[in-house]
Order: sequence, then structure tokens, then C-alpha cells
Amino acid sequence: MVYYAVDSVLIYAVTMTETNAAKTLLIVGHAPSVNTRRLRDAVTTAARDSADEAIVRISAQSPLDTMPGDVMTASAIILGTTENLGYMSGALKDFFDRCYYQCLEQTQGLPYCLYIRAGHDGTATRRGVETIVTGLRWRAVQDPLVCRGEWDESFIEQVAEIGSAMAVGLEAGIF
Ligand SMILES: Cc1cc2nc3c(=O)[nH]c(=O)nc-3n(C[C@H](O)[C@H](O)[C@H](O)COP(=O)(O)O)c2cc1C
Repeated sequence: MVYYAVDSVLIYAVTMTETNAAKTLLIVGHAPSVNTRRLRDAVTTAARDSADEAIVRISAQSPLDTMPGDVMTASAIILGTTENLGYMSGALKDFFDRCYYQCLEQTQGLPYCLYIRAGHDGTATRRGVETIVTGLRWRAVQDPLVCRGEWDESFIEQVAEIGSAMAVGLEAGIF
């Protein structure tokens, strides 16, 4: 922040870097197991490594800790969930239940993407999340990633690509 005194009135100018620094990439990832914690860590680390932290701030947290204000101040969001009993995790559903109406008016067009860790399917979880974000009018900027089946180390690399692409896109002003 740069301050100037003109005719005894203090005004300020915001530098270009500080203007851009207003961008926050919010990562809301449910991580109830070692593997899913690794996924959330990988998406977060890749995002942090891919953009200037002075331009894109990366915030990663559990859906259970995420409040409407976090979403309203985000420039983009990455959602991560397990598939449990044929649907998204209760934690991610709770996040939507608490935030939906407060965010509805203010977050239309929010760029988002989704990753799912599913033991053997993931389809219903994808559909469930897409139904809700369609209602919110968020904007998918990447295809959802479904890490399906037996654990595969390549999931780490795949989810990292999502984090990286989102951070780079925000930094470049693409979204
Ligand atoms: C109670 C329970 C229900 C589950 N239901 C589903 C399901 O409906 N579909 C699916 O693909 N995987 C299901 N899974 C598998 C989980 O999605 C998977 O174990 C979880 O994402 C954690 O991944 P990890 O085992 O690699 O740590 C279920 C797991 C649990 C514990």
C-alpha cells in the first residue's frame, strides 16, 4: 500500500501486486484417510508451487471448517470429497447445506473444479455435486477428476495437476 498526502487529505494507491493479491484459491477437501489427506496435500502443494503467493493465496481446509464467508471471498474453489454410500461425503454435504443460501446471490460464476476419491464408482457423487453447483451457478473450469478403484499413486499426480492449473489460471487472470 502506498500513501500520498494531497491537500492534507491522505489518499492511498494500491500497487498492482496488491490488487492481484486479492485472489484466493480455496481448497475445500474432505480427508478422512491417509490417502485422501495425501490428495488434499498434493492439490494444495501444487497450487502453492505454481503461483506467486503475492498474487494467489492458497487456503486449504476441511468442509466442516468452511464458512459462507470463506466462499464469498474466494476467487475460485476446488472441492474434494470421498464417495460414501453412493453420494458425496456428509462433510461436503454439510458444507453445502450451511453455505448454499448465503452464497447463492454472491458467488454466481465462481470457477470451481472437483476431485473425488471413490472405492469403486464416483458417478453418483459427481452428479450430486454437479446438481448443487449448478444451482449455485458456479462455473466448472476443468473436468472432474475421479480417483476410482484401488489406490494408485498416479492419483497424486493427477490431483496435483488440478491444483496447479487452478492456481496458474487465477494468476494469469484466465478465470
Ligand atoms: C462407509 C463407507 C462407504 C463407502 N461407500 C462408497 C461408495 O458408495 N462408492 C465408492 O466408490 N466408494 C465407497 N467407499 C470407499 C471410499 O470412497 C474410500 O474408501 C475413501 O474414499 C477413502 O479412500 P482410501 O481407502 O483410498 O483412503 C466407502 C467407504 C466407506 C468407509
